[in-house]
Amino acid sequence: MQIKEILSLSPSNQTITAKGWVRTKRVSSNVAFVALNDGSTIHNIQGVIADGTVAEETLRLVTTGACIALTGILIPSQGQGQSVEIQVTDIQVYGTADPEKYPLQPKKHSLEFLREIAHLRPRTNTFSAILRVRHALAFAVHSYFNDKGFFYLHTPIITGSDAEGAGEMFRVTTLPTTNPPMTEDGKVDFKEDFFGKETNLTVSGQLEGELGAMALSKVYTFGPTFRAENSNTTRHLAEFWMIEPEVAFNELEDNMNLAEDFTKYCIKYALDHCADDIAFLEKRLLEEEKNKKKEEQSELSLTEKLRFVTENDFERLTYTEAINILLQSKTHKQGKFQYPVEWGIDLQSEHERWLVEKHFKKPVILTNYPKDIKAFYMKLDEDGKTVRAMDVLFPGIGEIIGGSQREDDYAKLLQRTKDVGIEEESIWWYLETRQFGSAPHAGFGLGFERLVLFVTGMSNIRDVIPFPRTPKSAEF
Ligand code: 4AD
Ligand code: MG
Repeated sequence: MQIKEILSLSPSNQTITAKGWVRTKRVSSNVAFVALNDGSTIHNIQGVIADGTVAEETLRLVTTGACIALTGILIPSQGQGQSVEIQVTDIQVYGTADPEKYPLQPKKHSLEFLREIAHLRPRTNTFSAILRVRHALAFAVHSYFNDKGFFYLHTPIITGSDAEGAGEMFRVTTLPTTNPPMTEDGKVDFKEDFFGKETNLTVSGQLEGELGAMALSKVYTFGPTFRAENSNTTRHLAEFWMIEPEVAFNELEDNMNLAEDFTKYCIKYALDHCADDIAFLEKRLLEEEKNKKKEEQSELSLTEKLRFVTENDFERLTYTEAINILLQSKTHKQGKFQYPVEWGIDLQSEHERWLVEKHFKKPVILTNYPKDIKAFYMKLDEDGKTVRAMDVLFPGIGEIIGGSQREDDYAKLLQRTKDVGIEEESIWWYLETRQFGSAPHAGFGLGFERLVLFVTGMSNIRDVIPFPRTPKSAEF
């Protein structure tokens, strides 16, 4: 029986077995107390071992990190913090953990240190809480779209196209690294490669998602995506999970409504289903913030922050309006932004965070960005200068969602692909959907880890995915 379930039982002297990993063992006069955790909940079950009930040599093996089964009688707990405990009659040791070597001793470890032992960190309270919240959020994603009549579309992980046109791709090849086959003009001959062409890991499932929407009307993807961008930040991973809904007949406004409703639903789902874990993470964050300067400390607790987002409308404005607000700001006038502000710039994280955290103090949806700083597939506005793009910006995170209404006009899309240098033969299939039954449609991508960051109150994206992949780091 899972420890979560055991903790919810009413004790009636029933015999019970709990299996898990020892968090702590404490010996006090002639009784030993063992705190056992199996990851099903943030709470431990306490085993009380009276002197003489278990062989001395067995009890000696019960150390922090060891995996054991505790069998005994479930009784009301005398101690604080739990309602029941096990009066142990028998212990089975599955696996010992040498206290001289086991790195996770019951004390505070830094997040940096825990990253180096990602194979063991799920056994800490912080990481098990994060992983359970992550699971709940993933479940919420499917539940939301399923309830709304969307179909889960599995888009390919290996692809020949660069959906974002940013050239940040990991190549997939079976060609030898030394002496690969060459063409007559001295280039690597990918015709000889596994797929007979150049392929890479996908940066986004969007293009194929659009193909799905042009048949099933409402689809979403939820899969791993890969970016070989050399961004060593607390917001970027080389391998991350993205959720990409795509909806036929939706325009930019509908897209914003969907994005806002969907993120609110996911956050509310976590609040409703992960109360214990969020309460634990809230305390952790409070502790962490004590080390920060007063002005950097958050005014709201984690739960308050999450509730605030679910209960308030997101601020919606155009890129052009945002630039004007930035230009009028004291921060800009006093030259306190590191990067320049002018119409046409790609907003830097400092600008986005100023808008969200200092100016509006709530999530913001920015729309109608200049076409030159956005991807080729976005629908051109009537002014010919901006596109129907939207970015959703979150406090403490910055961009959490990027999306747009798509260009559904064949001639305009073909022109855009030419302008940005995409070869027609690489995405002829995408262009064809604009020739056969084209329709207005829109969609977006939510970076799943950025959502998990927000909900858990963690500050580094490496701490919300079990095994992070970042530049120069692919251990585990
Ligand atoms: O803004 P992006 O690049 O948009 C797309 O990929 C579109 N094809 C989505 C769509 O319209 N279907 O990425 C979408 C989101 C970002 O807002 C961000 O949350 C996340 O993906 N993201 C990353 N998350 C972690 N690490 C990275 N390197 C990320 N790059 C983007
Ligand atoms: Mg983006």
